[in-house]
Amino acid sequence: MNLTDSHAHLTDGRFREDYAQVLERARAAGVTTIINVGYDLASSAAACELAAKTEGLYAAVGIHPHEASCYTEETARRLRELATHPKVVALGEIGLDYYYNHSPRHVQQDVFRKQLRLARELCLPVIIHDRDAHGDIYRILCAEKAQEIGGVMHCFSGDTNFAVNCLQLGFYLSLAGPVTFKNAGELPAVARMVPPERLLIETDAPYLAPVPYRGKRNEPAFVRLVAEKIAALRGMEPGEVAELTSRNARAVFSLDKTV
Ligand code: NI
Repeated sequence: MNLTDSHAHLTDGRFREDYAQVLERARAAGVTTIINVGYDLASSAAACELAAKTEGLYAAVGIHPHEASCYTEETARRLRELATHPKVVALGEIGLDYYYNHSPRHVQQDVFRKQLRLARELCLPVIIHDRDAHGDIYRILCAEKAQEIGGVMHCFSGDTNFAVNCLQLGFYLSLAGPVTFKNAGELPAVARMVPPERLLIETDAPYLAPVPYRGKRNEPAFVRLVAEKIAALRGMEPGEVAELTSRNARAVFSLDKTV
């Protein structure tokens, strides 16, 4: 199998003890490619360092909406610097989180806009975090002409109508563990309707482990379970889902142009 985990957080403290084994288990499960996504400056810098050392591991750099209150001119300068690292393939994760509201909403919106502009300036696709904020995410993506850079709706959580909007903006939809949950809502319907050339899969490890590991620490090896679920929903072979989502990841993140 040739699986790509389009979104994981391997810099999380929960991987400190057994990071090497986690990577080994991923390889054994057929995961050839992992996008390791930053959420603040420290994790973004660490993601670059890990990517430099490991084949098939790439980095995204960005400030998560939880950390939006800490975004300054200096943050932007550091991000710009980190983004020049040869294995950085996207700006992310960035976006809005109206569930936790760790930063005030107007601050989240302002920082989201600033990072979209930075991505445009750097010609990098974006990885979008959207929790209970579909309307504002879409409005801001349109206002900032995000269709010119493109990117990924990470851990897509909207309904089929919102999926259509995101697809029309040229975005890829990435499905994660929740598509395997009993209370998956509209996600199975979304998994069936995404055009094959716009579908990605991910773990968002260490969060959101798929069934039967729900509630436990997630890791990239488990992306295989997401591929199997989507294959069942679409009437495909898991290997086909693995191939097409890997191809899509290579396209959206320009991996063939990356060392
Ligand atoms: Ni994430």
